[in-house]
Amino acid sequence: MPGAIYAEGLVKTFGDVRALDGVDIDVPEGTVLGLLGPNGAGKTTAVRVLTTLIQPDSGRAEVAGIDVLRHPNRVRASIGLSGQFAAVDEYLTGRENLQMVGQLYQLSARDAKKRAGELLERFNLAEAADRTAKTYSGGMRRRLDLAAALVVRPPVMFMDEPTTGLDPRNRQALWDVIQDLVAGGTTLLLTTQYLEEADHLAHSIAVVDLGRIIARGTSDELKDATGGDVVEVVVQDRDRLPAARAVLARLGQGEVTVDDHTRRLTVPVEGGARVLAEVIRELDSEGIEINDIGLRRPTLDDVFISLTGHSAEDAPLARETAAEQTADTPGADAGAAGPASADARADGRADKEAGK
Ligand SMILES: Nc1ncnc2c1ncn2[C@@H]1O[C@H](COP(=O)(O)OP(=O)(O)O)[C@@H](O)[C@H]1O
Ligand SMILES: [Mg+2]
Repeated sequence: MPGAIYAEGLVKTFGDVRALDGVDIDVPEGTVLGLLGPNGAGKTTAVRVLTTLIQPDSGRAEVAGIDVLRHPNRVRASIGLSGQFAAVDEYLTGRENLQMVGQLYQLSARDAKKRAGELLERFNLAEAADRTAKTYSGGMRRRLDLAAALVVRPPVMFMDEPTTGLDPRNRQALWDVIQDLVAGGTTLLLTTQYLEEADHLAHSIAVVDLGRIIARGTSDELKDATGGDVVEVVVQDRDRLPAARAVLARLGQGEVTVDDHTRRLTVPVEGGARVLAEVIRELDSEGIEINDIGLRRPTLDDVFISLTGHSAEDAPLARETAAEQTADTPGADAGAAGPASADARADGRADKEAGK
C-alpha cells in the first residue's frame, strides 16, 4: 500500500531545466522523509507538485491517499504547508495572522485564539504578537509562517527548508515542535540543505540532485554505503596540500576533498586505524607537517560528496546559469490550480531575488 505521501515518475520542466527528472517518493504514514539536496536540486518543485501548487508534466502522486492531480482541493484540505518564503499577511499582526488561519480551517474563534497564543509563545513571538507583521525581521516572519502551518494539525505536512535563516535557539524550538507533531501521527516531508537536520529529524532520507533522487535510506545506511571511515588531516603548510592530496589519493578509497582555507583534507578509507597509521607514516616520509589528523565516521556531507562529487552547500553552476535564463518565463506555472498559482509564481520570483 502506498504511503501517506506517494509519487511515481514525477517530471517537471521549466524551459530547458528539468527541475524534476523522474522522482519517486513513498513516505509511510507517521514518518518523516528528509529531502536533502543543494540549491536548485528540485526540492521546492517537488513540494509544489505534491501540494497541488503546480502540475507535473508527467507522473502521478497521492497525498493522504488522494490523487493530487484529480482532487487538488481535497488534498489541500488534508495538508499543511510551510513554504521556503514566508506567506504571511503584512498588514495583520502576528496574532491576527494565526487566528485568521485557524478560522479559515474552521476552528471556533475561541480555539483559534488559544492555538495562536500557544504558537506565538512556542516560537518566541509572544512579545511581538500584537505588532503588524510588516515590522517583523526576516527570522520573525519565518517563524510566523511556520506557526501558521501548525495552527491545525494536518495528517500530512510539507515543510520547505523550514529552518533556513533561523538562529540556533529557534531552530531547536522548531525541531521540538516537529518531533511533537510526528509523535502525534503526522506524516512529514521536509526539505533541507542541512545535513545535520536530516540526520536529526528524518526517519529516511532521499538525496536529490539535478531533479533526481540519487540515494535513499536512513542516515546510517547512507553513511555505511559510503564505506568505512574517513581520514581527516590538517596540514601545516598550504603549499603542501597537493603532496598531501596525492598521499590520501593513494591510500584512500574515493574522492579526496581539499579545503584550501582550513588546509583540511578528507578521504574515505577502508581498514581504519591501520590505514590511519600508514597515512601518518607516508606524510611524515614526504616531510609534510601535520597539525591535526584523525579517523571518523562519515558525515552526511561526506555521503553527499561521494555521491555527487560536490558538497551539499555548493550549487551546481551550470544548472544555476541555465535557470537564470528561464526563471520567470511567463506561463511557466500555467498548470497551477486556483489562487495558489500566484503564490507559486511569487515564490519563483523570491527565489530569483534571493539569488537561489
Ligand atoms: N518557476 C520557475 N521557472 C523557471 N525555472 C524554475 C522555476 N522554478 C524552479 N525552477 C528551476 O528548477 C530547478 C529546481 O528548482 P527548485 O525546485 O526551486 O530547487 P531547490 O528547491 O532544490 O533549490 C532550478 O534550476 C530552478 O531554477
Ligand atoms: Mg527550494
